[in-house]
Amino acid sequence: MSEYILITGGAGFIGTNVARAYLERGQRVQLFDNLSRAEVEQNARELAAEFPGRVQLVGSDVRQKRELERAVEGASAVFHFAAQVAVTTSLEDPVRDAETNLIGTLNLLEALRRRGEDVPLLFTSTNKVYGCLAGVPLRKREARYEPEDEALAREGVSEKQALEFLSPYGCSKGSADQYVLDYARSYGICATVFRMSCIYGPYQRGSEDQGWVAHFLRRTLKGEPVTIFGDGKQVRDLLYVGDLVEAMRVAVENIESCAGEAFNIGGGAGHSASLLEVLREIQGLTGLHPEIRFSEARLGDQRWYVSNNSKAARVFGWRARTSVRQGLKNLMEWYSGRPELIGQSALQVV
Ligand SMILES: NC(=O)c1ccc[n+]([C@@H]2O[C@H](COP(=O)([O-])OP(=O)(O)OC[C@H]3O[C@@H](n4cnc5c(N)ncnc54)[C@H](O)[C@@H]3O)[C@@H](O)[C@H]2O)c1
Repeated sequence: MSEYILITGGAGFIGTNVARAYLERGQRVQLFDNLSRAEVEQNARELAAEFPGRVQLVGSDVRQKRELERAVEGASAVFHFAAQVAVTTSLEDPVRDAETNLIGTLNLLEALRRRGEDVPLLFTSTNKVYGCLAGVPLRKREARYEPEDEALAREGVSEKQALEFLSPYGCSKGSADQYVLDYARSYGICATVFRMSCIYGPYQRGSEDQGWVAHFLRRTLKGEPVTIFGDGKQVRDLLYVGDLVEAMRVAVENIESCAGEAFNIGGGAGHSASLLEVLREIQGLTGLHPEIRFSEARLGDQRWYVSNNSKAARVFGWRARTSVRQGLKNLMEWYSGRPELIGQSALQVV
């Protein structure tokens, strides 16, 4: 295969969306994915069927150094998404979590260093590198938390926020985030870091452990109960995946300004919602009312997190555009076209 865009974790939710964007522009992609996430093989199959001859699936693991080196050799740009993605799983098996998220990332950085050419790398970090923001006083409203500090509520959390790694997942992603930035500093690798909060949209096969927006919608469409961990008033800024893909593409095109920099990337204050508010929106869209159960809050769960996107706006001129309602509609349409994922109830939902 001639030069391609290398996407580790490329069969996953964000990987598939990024792959699509480059395929639609006539490029080739290599999806480097061990297919450990349930159902993602179907994403790769759909892409290969729609763009014949331009999608290569390498069923391998980022812990396999040699295979990663081979993949990097032919890449014109690298998106590094492969990861153990759930806090819950990281608590069950922290060593495996670190091997994938930290050592896997180091393997990739080393492969790029050995190649010795200016190949752009974009790494997806997380808002979890800022810990649970215990020092931010919050008010409890009817359906959501919000900071007492009005400027913070309006603007969100910037990259100046102190790092604090909570949970094995927070530690493995946070250390990888720091290594990526350091490889830019120490070895001149053209690497940038996106610290993302809550991304949602088509190709997201959410589960109780990760991808809660898709999980809530899917359970609702299936007529199954939804469990909320905590009181449901915790707030996230929701970023539609189409907006994220645009940010990634533009950042990689402008890698000379982005290299060595971390960016908080999310929907921002204008696209923030609590879990309860998202459920209400889903109920309005589907006309379905799932049974809601409450369970204990999860370790390190931020009660409020909203990204301040102004650095991304300043450096590469990006902003989030898609409303939460529109994004949820798009996701619902995607599920409705795949009745096998949601059972018969989907057929009655329009
Ligand atoms: N979705 C979000 O809201 C969100 C938020 C913040 C950060 N992130 C980060 O973005 C990235 C992509 O997330 P996603 O939502 O698309 O997750 P996803 O689970 O859909 O995709 C991850 C992919 O990586 C693959 N994978 C896992 N371990 C691997 C390994 N050892 N070797 C090769 N492939 C492996 C999985 O099979 C899966 O296809 C992850 O790094 C995640 O930590 C996601």
